[in-house]
Amino acid sequence: MDTLRNKVSGKDERYIQIRPSLINFYRDLPVYIIHPQKGGLVRFLARKEQYAEKAISFLTKRGISVYVRLSDHKERNSLLEEKLVEYLDGPIDAEKAVFIKELTFQLVNEFFVGQAAPRGGHLIDAKSLKKIAKIANYYVGLLDLENAAEALEMIHNVILKDLTTYAHSVNTMILILRYLEQERKQYRDKISFPNELLANRHEIDQKQREQDRKWALGAILHDIGKVGIPDELLKAARKLTDKEYEIMKMHVDFGWEMIRAVSSAYSRDEIVKGAILHHHERLDGTGYPRKLTELSPAGQLIGLLDCYEALTTDKRPYRSAATPLEALDILLKDVKAGKFDPTLLKKLAELVANDHIA
Ligand SMILES: [Fe+2]
Ligand SMILES: [Fe+2]
Repeated sequence: MDTLRNKVSGKDERYIQIRPSLINFYRDLPVYIIHPQKGGLVRFLARKEQYAEKAISFLTKRGISVYVRLSDHKERNSLLEEKLVEYLDGPIDAEKAVFIKELTFQLVNEFFVGQAAPRGGHLIDAKSLKKIAKIANYYVGLLDLENAAEALEMIHNVILKDLTTYAHSVNTMILILRYLEQERKQYRDKISFPNELLANRHEIDQKQREQDRKWALGAILHDIGKVGIPDELLKAARKLTDKEYEIMKMHVDFGWEMIRAVSSAYSRDEIVKGAILHHHERLDGTGYPRKLTELSPAGQLIGLLDCYEALTTDKRPYRSAATPLEALDILLKDVKAGKFDPTLLKKLAELVANDHIA
């Protein structure tokens, strides 16, 4: 759980977890950690006016959770979001990429744990959904940069190191944006039509951006139903039993129910709907939960990128992460078995190849 209620100096307050790497953004506010022995929150103090790199890596390495008051956090969030917009305005270097990753995690994490959940459970609300749309928007905005592909790749690479559900979702989103960017570039190279001859150029751009935004949202939301799956299954450091796996599969329908309950606009959107409902279905009917054979384009593409992302990132005690080449090889077998569309895999292979040749 990422928010908690605690009594510090006799006052009952709500606290929210923050990423240790972002601690300096809260340096003028009280910051707390969970006491390693006694449990409970204790104040964490900077020796100078800011927290030293050493202190931050100490917290990160030991997995010590850092908290701030919820009220302080809300106030500070707009500043962090401003910073994010500023950084996304490019050019993005490695340091900025790390900040973007960290802040994205924090924002998406808040969304996934539904800290504003009105009914005490994990249910998301319309406000958090808006926030996630905003994050997707930031990333789509990145495509306007001259070095869009490089910037997205850089963020993708830093995010690859984290293995949680929200890192996976953000990473899948970045992968899809890079995929779309590549597709567009190939199209532009093939048909070199002078821009000025297109009277409705602006309109086309607008439409494209709107599409990208939906793809980004679909990717970031595809596993949202996992918030309804018990932690011990999500974080299990072992292979799940058949029964547990059946429970895990329910994340698809959970996710769809959540989106339907919160936003009729998103639930009517074909990309968001396909991403959530079809990402585990396979063209040969071996997928779940409905064993469909006719899949939406979004379900097919996000399903493929989802697999690639999980294969290359997911390091668990019982299996290690695959290299990009190994992952493509596994997916090729799936294509031959009729699970995925070969054209989609071909384009993904081109994207991966370009990363490694450049
Ligand atoms: Fe999933
Ligand atoms: Fe997934």
